[in-house]
Amino acid sequence: MKVQVCIIGGGPSGLLLSQLLHLQGIETVVLEKYSREYVLARIRAGVLEHGFAKLMREAQCGERMDREGEIHKGFHIAHDGVMDHVDLFKYSGGSSVVVYGQTELTRDLYEARERMKGNVIHNAEDVTPHDLNSDAPYVTYRDGDKVVRIDCEYVIGADGFHGVSRKSIPKDVLREYERVYPFGWLGVLSRTKPVSPELIYAKHERGFALCSLRSQVLSRYYIQVPLTDRVEDWSDDAFWAELKRRLPGEVAARMITGPSIEKSIAPLRSFVAEPMRYGRLFLAGDAAHIVPPTGARGLNSAASDIYYLYHAMVDHYKKGDDAGLDGYSKKALARIWKAQRFSWWMTMLLHRFPDNIPYDDKLQETDLAYLFSSEAAQRSLAENYVGLPF
Ligand code: FAD
Ligand code: DHB
Repeated sequence: MKVQVCIIGGGPSGLLLSQLLHLQGIETVVLEKYSREYVLARIRAGVLEHGFAKLMREAQCGERMDREGEIHKGFHIAHDGVMDHVDLFKYSGGSSVVVYGQTELTRDLYEARERMKGNVIHNAEDVTPHDLNSDAPYVTYRDGDKVVRIDCEYVIGADGFHGVSRKSIPKDVLREYERVYPFGWLGVLSRTKPVSPELIYAKHERGFALCSLRSQVLSRYYIQVPLTDRVEDWSDDAFWAELKRRLPGEVAARMITGPSIEKSIAPLRSFVAEPMRYGRLFLAGDAAHIVPPTGARGLNSAASDIYYLYHAMVDHYKKGDDAGLDGYSKKALARIWKAQRFSWWMTMLLHRFPDNIPYDDKLQETDLAYLFSSEAAQRSLAENYVGLPF
């Protein structure tokens, strides 16, 4: 098979790029390691920045998001028994975020790819990129006993943190920056009415908690847990009891609980790989960078990579202009590091760190007190949360 762009990974990054390029007449194939059902069973992000929502519309995939997604103009931070409000709309100059699950967004992208007869290959085993530093790269994968070869002009590594793409860049070329946090998030999805119309991020001496939602009948809650905890350690009852303990009394009192329909633990990590290009390979999304989920930046950072790559590819194929491709890594990383800074800051602000000395606790309290006493600080939070410009 021969194609212009071979995309490794059928998560949101890979599918969105494939869809956008297709609409510009650029041929792609997407190689996904797992089945569609498996990819759609992973419950992840829920908050989309407005720039991402715009890109989904440009990809002709925004219809259901606009119908079923919720516009959120603010959120709460609960701490020390009080609930403070962050007015995103006011402090970002009229912006907001869309609450729409990554699962639904991925489903919309799959359906669009299907509608346009896009080439998405599932259960592609042993995907391996070759000759990335030449003018004729190719990618192989195994389909049962058969090895299939795809010749292409460019390879996009959109295969997430554990994928093969980043690992195919020589060690002496790639520099990795990493911080691992000493806790994870235990997440529960339940078919219950959300406790609050807007998200509540809670800082508590027992640990962080987050009340989020997917719709008015589907709630998504998280609590900070030690890395040693396993999902099996947490019954639904134990989860609800711990979540309520970390929320202000009046919020806990109106919490509607029910059976969990999904429960998982995600470790928290900050990670950046530089550069994001090696020869004909371009990394995008979680393949190149990870943030702790606190600032809701992960999926949104993937979207900015796709935005830059999409425009760079269009300039290359339509105008013969390679400035976008040549500048991709630098441009993407400049925005990525800002998302890294913001996610790290929100994580440090709201979690309980087991090794904190009393001085650190005082600084954390002061950071929160400063936030809600300073319009400048709230403006900074708001502009980062709704998404910095692409
Ligand atoms: P992925 O979604 O990881 O997709 C990569 C794809 O590549 C996968 O389908 C995988 O199966 C496939 N793949 C892997 N290896 C191979 C291989 N060798 N060959 C072929 N295919 C392969 N982000 C936000 O912006 N907002 C949030 O609110 C938010 N909340 C989150 C909550 C949790 C609990 C977690 C875990 C994450 C959250 N994120 C959030 C982060 C967000 O989910 C990720 O940033 C996003 O999934 C990145 O998309 P991606 O397409 O780059 O990577
Ligand atoms: C969700 C996840 C986040 O990391 C976040 O900051 C906000 C919402 C969610 O899954 O709904």
